[in-house]
Amino acid sequence: MTQEELFKKLVAHCKEYGFVFPSSEIYDGLGAVYDYGQNGVELKNNIKRYWWDSMVKLHENIVGLDASIFMHPKTWEASGHVSAFNDPLIDNKDSKKRYRADVLIEDWMAKIDEKIEKEVAKARKRFGESFDEEKFRATSPRVQEELAKREAVHTRFAKAMNDNDFVELRQIILDCEIACPISGTRNWTEVRQFNLMFSTQMGSTADGANTIYLRPETAQGIFVNFLNVQKTGRMKIPFGIAQIGKAFRNEIVARQFVFRMREFEQMEMQFFVRPGTEMQWWNEWKNTRMAWHRALGFGDENYQFHDHDKLAHYANAATDIEYKFPFGFKEVEGIHSRTDFDLSNHQKFSGKKMTYFDPETGESYVPYVVETSIGVDRMFLQVMSAAYTEEKLESGDSRIVLKFPAALAPVKVAVLPLVKKDGMPEKAQEIVNLLKYDFNVAYEEKDSVGKRYRRQDAIGTPFCVTVDGQTLEDNTVTVRHRDTMEQVRVSIDKLHAMVEEECSYRKLYKKLNL
Ligand code: GAP
Repeated sequence: MTQEELFKKLVAHCKEYGFVFPSSEIYDGLGAVYDYGQNGVELKNNIKRYWWDSMVKLHENIVGLDASIFMHPKTWEASGHVSAFNDPLIDNKDSKKRYRADVLIEDWMAKIDEKIEKEVAKARKRFGESFDEEKFRATSPRVQEELAKREAVHTRFAKAMNDNDFVELRQIILDCEIACPISGTRNWTEVRQFNLMFSTQMGSTADGANTIYLRPETAQGIFVNFLNVQKTGRMKIPFGIAQIGKAFRNEIVARQFVFRMREFEQMEMQFFVRPGTEMQWWNEWKNTRMAWHRALGFGDENYQFHDHDKLAHYANAATDIEYKFPFGFKEVEGIHSRTDFDLSNHQKFSGKKMTYFDPETGESYVPYVVETSIGVDRMFLQVMSAAYTEEKLESGDSRIVLKFPAALAPVKVAVLPLVKKDGMPEKAQEIVNLLKYDFNVAYEEKDSVGKRYRRQDAIGTPFCVTVDGQTLEDNTVTVRHRDTMEQVRVSIDKLHAMVEEECSYRKLYKKLNL
């Protein structure tokens, strides 16, 4: 199965099992807008909890905030989004499809990387145990040729992006012979700038309505509240403010499911530091955030840092944490050193002081900011991609199982009476009542136990508890473990502790060493 086929299956699975639906589907959907179903919302909430607790509970110097989506329009002038929050777009004249020029070039570079990896994999197979990968990469003429090609384009691309040189961006697309995937032609328009913010009107026209924006990032709600939180919370630098909330971007290229949406959710934390210490904190946060991802156990080799070729208008250093999705390594989270850009500009545009008096140095200054910013939806897709597994069983059957870390699973326990009679449903309900105050529990009595197991595997439920004839005699149940499919007999009075031990966030948090 190709990675593309795998991704298609994953998307179909998300719909079939109540994780993600296209928005307003009865009207044929709305581009790049999605709704989360009964299982999706639980997974999303669990991801948010993992993030929130690791920030706010586990750091004494980080507190939360919930700012509104609408903000005074001047906010977006001060933040630079009105003038600089643009993507370079290009149209194919034959298919009339619109693309992001930078994404076309990045995808071309990713294809070269794939070619190189294929060469390495072929050689590994050929040479077996004696394969010296480092030497092969450094000496293989084929690999070297591809690397040189990629590097030359990469250098031109980085310069063109930083200089906002759209003529050069178009030229790179032509020189790399990039064709439109739909029409197959290289009949491209010029590259143009496109502002990503959605605008709307506040107030009635008669009263003189104001154009306001739907926030394209949650961070600005934190910046404008910086002193409110600092003063009322008596926070001392360094300290952070964390927030989870919706953001909106009129993305030109809407594709790859919930990876790039027009309405999405961010989990952002702005960490306010003394000027001059920002690089140290940036490095620290890079490590802290990478550890958060890796604690989920999806394989350290599936994550990498990727430094930005083009820094956003506010940053002096920026890196992404990328995950190996079925469509390649892609950004899940950004860690940015935002300098004092935002606070200084808000000070300028609002006329209000944004300075902090540092009792340790006796100085007043505008703090510098290190930001960690992760999309909930991208994280959701990352977890789904990593968890989705198709298995061939010894019996000849196959199953689809979502191998979520137990703490993130939408449903923790399914309680299944073996048959719908002999007091088994009643006993099963007793077990549901025992567990339901602390865990998401499903009760299922329809179909054979085998079929019910498969349904629970498909939504990633870690435990299936079956009530049978023996249960009525000795108060024990069969507990089936999702990943191993192993079945053990457990006394009902031990169930709660067993589920708690396996599904607690504590296990994850301990891995973070915070
Ligand atoms: N405050 C900084 C900021 O917004 P960003 O790199 O533009 O930085 C941060 O976005 C994160 O938000 C990304 O790493 C990604 O996970 C998520 N994100 C951005 N645009 C998105 C979109 N259109 N759909 C889904 N997630 C998105």
